[in-house]
Amino acid sequence: MIDWHSHILPKMDDGSRDVSESIALLTMQAEQGVDTVIATPHFYANDETVESFLKRRKESFERLQEALLEGMPKIILGAEVRYYRGISRLSELKSLRVEGSKLLLLEMPESKWTEDVVRELVEMSSMSKVRLVLAHIERYFDLQSPAVWNRLYESGIMMQVNASFFDSFSTKRKALSWVKKGKIHFIGSDCHNLTTRKPKIGNAFAAIEKKLGVDYLVALNEYGYSKLGTQIMV
Ligand SMILES: [Fe+2]
Repeated sequence: MIDWHSHILPKMDDGSRDVSESIALLTMQAEQGVDTVIATPHFYANDETVESFLKRRKESFERLQEALLEGMPKIILGAEVRYYRGISRLSELKSLRVEGSKLLLLEMPESKWTEDVVRELVEMSSMSKVRLVLAHIERYFDLQSPAVWNRLYESGIMMQVNASFFDSFSTKRKALSWVKKGKIHFIGSDCHNLTTRKPKIGNAFAAIEKKLGVDYLVALNEYGYSKLGTQIMV
């Protein structure tokens, strides 16, 4: 299984503080059935250049790689890119994609989006160099109208939810119905640490399997592998 959203790289952002915490996070992910982790540290264009971000990410990954143990999930580098007006014109957008794919994980503001914002997303969806994935859409789903979501889905934009969406009684039903309707493409733990935001993704996998059957879970996972291209051999 793939964890599509995580902050496991040491000292990259507000996630893992050091290599040993990263190893502990990866161990927990493996115990929950995760074999592939997409590392998605925050990228804020206001704070840092893409070049600096990529350099830091490379160094962080190299430090982690030296300490990886056998049986740990494969790590694929990506980013959680904070949206800003005009991001579609960022020339280095391609280098922020999930490695080996065209997927770009975009973190949207938790507010009602203006027409200009929605239009920019739709425009980005037709760019050949990226395929947009909106991060943890459950956070801002109710803030947008159904018509907006229809436009985004029809544009081919893909959606990620956090595993915590499957946790509480109040949202679990909604989460499962979204999976059933094909509205969710990717699930992530969005784990940051070993205390307040630890990896808890096995629960989401189990809930899908229990309610919708193992075939749903397998299909969702295989869809994910197919998006990662040839770097993953299933
Ligand atoms: Fe995140």
